[in-house]
Amino acid sequence: MDGPNGVPGQVFFTLSELFGRTVNRVDRFRQFDFPSHTNYKQDFEDHEGSTSIVFTLSEKVGVLAAALKVFEEKGVNLHHIESRPSRDDPRSFEFFVSCDNKTGGLKEAIESLRSMTNNKLTVLSRNMQNGSSGEVPWFPRRIKELDRFANQILSYGSELDADHPGFTDPVYRERRKEFADIAFNYKYGQTIPTVEYTNAEIKTWSTIFRELVKLYPTHACREFNHIFPLLVDNCGFREDNIPQLQDISDFLKDCTGFSLRPVAGLLSSRDFLAGLAFRVFHSTQYIRHGSKPMYTPEPDVCHELLGHVPLFADPSFAQFSQEIGLASLGAPDEYIKKLATLYWFTVEFGLCQQESGLKAYGAGLLSSFGELEYCLSDKPKVLPFDPVKTCEQEYPITSFQPVYFVAESFDTAKVKVKQFAATIPRPFSVRYNPYTQSVEVINSKQQIINLSKDIRGDLSLLEHALAKIEA
Ligand SMILES: [Fe+2]
Repeated sequence: MDGPNGVPGQVFFTLSELFGRTVNRVDRFRQFDFPSHTNYKQDFEDHEGSTSIVFTLSEKVGVLAAALKVFEEKGVNLHHIESRPSRDDPRSFEFFVSCDNKTGGLKEAIESLRSMTNNKLTVLSRNMQNGSSGEVPWFPRRIKELDRFANQILSYGSELDADHPGFTDPVYRERRKEFADIAFNYKYGQTIPTVEYTNAEIKTWSTIFRELVKLYPTHACREFNHIFPLLVDNCGFREDNIPQLQDISDFLKDCTGFSLRPVAGLLSSRDFLAGLAFRVFHSTQYIRHGSKPMYTPEPDVCHELLGHVPLFADPSFAQFSQEIGLASLGAPDEYIKKLATLYWFTVEFGLCQQESGLKAYGAGLLSSFGELEYCLSDKPKVLPFDPVKTCEQEYPITSFQPVYFVAESFDTAKVKVKQFAATIPRPFSVRYNPYTQSVEVINSKQQIINLSKDIRGDLSLLEHALAKIEA
């Protein structure tokens, strides 16, 4: 069948056949971008009250009408539908449907459809858990979709707890609101606003900077000490200057493709990890309260810039971080908790074994004068990094860690995380496409064929390069 614009293979139905009165809005006959990657991109807003479903039907007259009748019978309102020929079976079509999950019997409708489609149905939604029925939590597919959850924060950056050092300081609270507002209004692709830090804020930064740089040569890993001087030269990392997020983001982009985006408050683990899948790090821009420069109950600009930023410029560490992010996409909640624990014991509090001995690479260590000394002393327990065991380890969040995990190298740790990710129950694999800055969901034979072509191309390049070097 031909679509209205004459595109071969696009299925065509009349609106009345599609939904009768149950449809609010129909975007006709466009290719949807789930489950496989296409060049065609659409801007469909999957809002909080919707659940998205993909199902496959064989090409028979009336079969779609029968499927849609199920929604009508269960009182489920449809927001949106798209179709395309199936990648796996040329005699079938795949349908992407977004429907209201607040009214009607959506669960019953899904179960009816599941049997009607011989189980060729996948539910996508950020509101549903991955359970026995194979529902997959929503996750961003394109980098600009990070805007969707950037403001779904667990607490706004200016809302301080009663035991926060700045709780009774109205000037500090007002300042925190300014920072939170910058992040709240930020959208993907914009320049991060420059902040003019006050003398008091720079004084706080100076105190921390001065103490930490004394320890880096002996306590930080080799990669960190290689990159830190580059940040001094290129991004204004100095005792008397708090560097700007945009300058750092530009620098990281040149090094590894990582970028920073300001965040207005605490994100959920799922959302924060999803950013890493796109090589995006959500960074705070405010600084801790000046009364306690060596203590902060939450991440601040000192923690982000001195702790996290340097290693995001290292290619192996960048890949390792992205692997944790990719593993999190569409993962069940219990695995998000495990991945957040892996993140904690690596990106935040990781140690690594190097020629010169045990060194720190975790941001929580590299931004804390006290814990950086403590972690390499004989006081804490030190265990080898093993994702299966590490992800079960309990940890305190307000005191020094009693246990640290040691990676042999970032590359080895990355391989281990990849192996761990393969055990996460997901009905697909994911791959990051740096050209389109999008995540490809790989779950069809054709996509695997395309992937093998790309790999063959890379192998051929490798072969030529080796031959030239040998010559
Ligand atoms: Fe952190």
